[in-house]
Amino acid sequence: MAKPKVYVTRRIPDAGLDLLRKECEVEVSPHDRPLTRREFLDAIQGRDGVVCLLTDKVDAEAFEAAAGVKGFANFAVGFDNLDVPEATRRRIPLSNTPDVLTDATADMAWALLFAAARRVVESDGVNRSGSWKGWGPLQFIGGDVTGATLGIVGAGRIGAAMAAKSVGFRMKVLYTDARRNEALEKAVGARFVPFEELLAQSDFVSVHVPLMPETRHLFTYDTFRKMKKTAYLVNTARGPVLAEDDLVRALKDGLIAGAGLDVYEREPALAEGLASLPNVVITPHTASATVSSRNGMALKAAANVIAMVKGQKAPDCLNPEVYT
Ligand code: DGY
Repeated sequence: MAKPKVYVTRRIPDAGLDLLRKECEVEVSPHDRPLTRREFLDAIQGRDGVVCLLTDKVDAEAFEAAAGVKGFANFAVGFDNLDVPEATRRRIPLSNTPDVLTDATADMAWALLFAAARRVVESDGVNRSGSWKGWGPLQFIGGDVTGATLGIVGAGRIGAAMAAKSVGFRMKVLYTDARRNEALEKAVGARFVPFEELLAQSDFVSVHVPLMPETRHLFTYDTFRKMKKTAYLVNTARGPVLAEDDLVRALKDGLIAGAGLDVYEREPALAEGLASLPNVVITPHTASATVSSRNGMALKAAANVIAMVKGQKAPDCLNPEVYT
């Protein structure tokens, strides 16, 4: 019997491809870049399943192009690139890759927090340039982490992991979310507070909400005005949660002390002026880029699409209603 045909829109780690190839006829995009819209729509035609990326917009047009497809497995935990209600209406299963990147992403949020607060990238640059003239009492003074207040915006898996890792730094943890996370309160003594209170009291605000209509531009110039002037912002969630041009303006106006960002509003473009600010650390959406996370994501995406093409329930299905 012919194997189901699966298309992978960009090369993923071999762990996932090897698993896929055992059960499916697999074609991987030959380009090591995001597909253009036209390339994507052409490539998914006639496939039984697709492994897609956060850079692929999977919407009504994609479902039309991939007529007969048995499902799309997103190689990411975030799924704002997928039109879930439209897929559900068409009874097309979708999946994501939860859990395997929780710690890696929270670790990266910590890396950005420290790098911004302790001016790691800025001072490294000065040292490399050969312009450091020796130790000085007023050089590269940054913010204290130990004993500071950490504000977690979105206390799901990754936000809670970020909070849990604060214990060694004896931090006070505040959090805000649509609902309370009692496990987090018990684990680290985190206090559930309104968003405005979190902004006013936190020395570090770390963003972990998914991108949804309610969270798009949750942070604007006005929001930064409510933060401490000495506070730092960290974002490893999704870029459009911040109005990035407002963030640049807020940093230039000194409304906050600095920022550590892994995600951007118009990826891969950066807001004008962002890259020339000395008090930001800007990594290129690499929070999940560890060996075990990326292998885990590949294995999950493969297992999900294999289940879909076999007509079985995908383990990480986002719209299980399609199976009823
Ligand atoms: C995700 O999985 O949503 C990250 O942004 C990329 O790993």
